[in-house]
Amino acid sequence: MKILVVGAGGFIGSHLLEEILKNHRDWAVTAIDICEAKISRMLDDENLRFFNIDVVKEYESVEEHVKICDIVLPLAAIASPAMYVTDPLRVFELDFESNLRIVKWAAQYKKRVIFPSTCEVYGMCEDEEFREEESNCVTGPINKQRWIYSCSKQMLDRVIYAYGIRDGLRYTLFRPFNWIGPKLDDITNPNNGSSRVVTQFLSNIIHGKDINLVDGGNQIRSFTDIADATAALIKIIENENNCADQQVFNIGNPYNQLSIKELAYTIVELAKKYEKTRSFAEKIKILDINPDEYYGKGYQDVSKRVPSIKKAESLLRWKPGIGVKESLRKITDFYC
Ligand code: NAD
Ligand code: UGA
Repeated sequence: MKILVVGAGGFIGSHLLEEILKNHRDWAVTAIDICEAKISRMLDDENLRFFNIDVVKEYESVEEHVKICDIVLPLAAIASPAMYVTDPLRVFELDFESNLRIVKWAAQYKKRVIFPSTCEVYGMCEDEEFREEESNCVTGPINKQRWIYSCSKQMLDRVIYAYGIRDGLRYTLFRPFNWIGPKLDDITNPNNGSSRVVTQFLSNIIHGKDINLVDGGNQIRSFTDIADATAALIKIIENENNCADQQVFNIGNPYNQLSIKELAYTIVELAKKYEKTRSFAEKIKILDINPDEYYGKGYQDVSKRVPSIKKAESLLRWKPGIGVKESLRKITDFYC
């Protein structure tokens, strides 16, 4: 099986590649990215071919790779909330426009597409658990530009779904719920909004910079270990008895609910156990900050985000098993 992974050098792509190259030696991977730092150790593997292609500027060459693969995973995207507010058009160009081209080629050349939707499509939905076929997608007004990411992903979900109905496109939409693990984001820059929350807090500690809790940090996320998440992706690729075809799956861990405030205190306590971070972690303050001050006026938040994973459990026979404390320990081991 020939698998094309676009954005393969990112957090999810690098973990997926590692798993495929280790345990699925009969699969051949073509990887595209503009950055190879997270996969540099794998580039010599005979089952991997890497191409440095910017899919926004050099998209013509991507078509050739889609033509010769069996499955395409278009993972390239901007996935950091601060950027949704500060550079929404770049988010649109990459997350929507570039991926739309790939989806259209997948439909034209009859390839399977496995697309990373997001838990953000549910937006401010108030359901206790978000369900793929029932929950509403709730976003805010246009001046809250944070929602451009959610809308870009939702529109692609809808386009892919429509190609499935009209042209028989074989697709799977997976919705990650705050996947975390080693290699998540760069921690060299501790400025507000430089990365997603777990690596942001670690970066603050490593640089001796106080942690900011946006709006008091009462908002809840369900964190999912990347090893559990990668196992779900492998099941989707394997697609036993076509169980993943024409399906949308939440891939998250409803047992790992944590408020952002609890997350901050947990990470600080953990960092006290490491030589590199102990002295900073003992002194660091955890402060409240106004969202407008942290992200700018275009920000709006999701107060609680918990997945229903019944579909993934029954169709994929997948269940997450790694607790959030264990994940945070693995991440701190990696960065500290
Ligand atoms: P990431 O930012 O770690 O990886 C994205 C990759 O895309 C990077 O390696 C980047 O270099 C590459 N890229 C950016 N611009 C490019 C361009 N012009 N040409 C080629 N490559 C380019 O993100 P991730 O966490 O690995 O997420 C992968 C996908 O999953 C994204 O679509 C994201 O929206 C989605 N997703 C992730 C999460 C999560 O929990 N990590 C949650 C929901 C959705
Ligand atoms: C994330 C991102 O949009 C994507 O990576 C992805 O699609 C999805 O959700 C996911 O990871 O599943 P969000 O969870 O809001 O969105 O992003 P984070 O940056 O990880 O922030 C989580 C929460 O922590 C937010 O409420 C944010 O305001 C808060 N936060 C973040 C702080 O309180 N302080 C900080 O310094 C950073």
